[in-house]
Amino acid sequence: TTPQLLAGKRVVITAGPTVEAIDPVRYLSNHSTGKMGFALARACVAAGADVILIAGGKIALPTPLNVTRIDVLSAEEMLMVAQQCVTGTHSALQYMLEEEHDHSHDHSHDHSHDHSHEHAHQQGDCDCGEDHEEIIIDGSLKVADIFIATAAVADYRTEEAAPQKIKKTQEAMTLSLVKNPDILATISLAHPELFVVGFAAETQDVERYARGKLLSKDLDLIACNDVSRADIGFASDDNAMEVFFSTHYEHDSITLDKASKDKIAEQLTTIIGEAIWQ
Ligand code: C5P
Repeated sequence: TTPQLLAGKRVVITAGPTVEAIDPVRYLSNHSTGKMGFALARACVAAGADVILIAGGKIALPTPLNVTRIDVLSAEEMLMVAQQCVTGTHSALQYMLEEEHDHSHDHSHDHSHDHSHEHAHQQGDCDCGEDHEEIIIDGSLKVADIFIATAAVADYRTEEAAPQKIKKTQEAMTLSLVKNPDILATISLAHPELFVVGFAAETQDVERYARGKLLSKDLDLIACNDVSRADIGFASDDNAMEVFFSTHYEHDSITLDKASKDKIAEQLTTIIGEAIWQ
């Protein structure tokens, strides 16, 4: 049996591509399938974590058991949802709790947006005479312990999506693009206490680029795959990785040999679990 290295930990994972609208029917995206992030979500649940999976694009993969999944499209939306999930303030998390509360106490009125009631619960001065404890512990105030960014975020988005379908009247057209926010760096730099894991796909100088990102994005770990290899990565079911650690850990780097994404996810989860207890 796997040791429950992540018992009681809340893990937020981004996965898949982002989708950047050009007009109501067209978008910019990439070939990311989300497999690695979904495999990590399963592995983290198996290690005892409470997992929130932020899935970009239109990922057809089934939601892993016991995982809270939130679908998003653009990088800006993914960043906003990630911030809310890391700070425990996303409405999907509150809704879940209210549902739980609703069922366990058989309330008849609709709680889904009854924030004043919930607030009173959190303050402990609600007069409904019920036990408020579980809402405070499991509730909207619970911040994440670990953030794992596997999403293939589009580097650029259209400056402005056209409100109507663009007609093919011109012989040539130019799309004006602007840089997307770096979700991983933004979250990591805003939450120094959060254990943060990044991914990188490189074709050369893997270690140098990885170490640069560890520092610039203030990461604890970065898992790199060599995308110049045809047998792993993107749509493949297999992966191989080199994991680099920031300086305050016992390890400098660990190589994970080619294996299924599920196996790699399990190994990575163990590495994360051991590092957070260090
Ligand atoms: O800088 P680069 O794209 O190589 O960094 C890869 C890592 O940063 C991945 O973990 C990816 O999920 C994350 N990232 C992000 N937001 C971006 C770009 C990358 O979260 N805009």
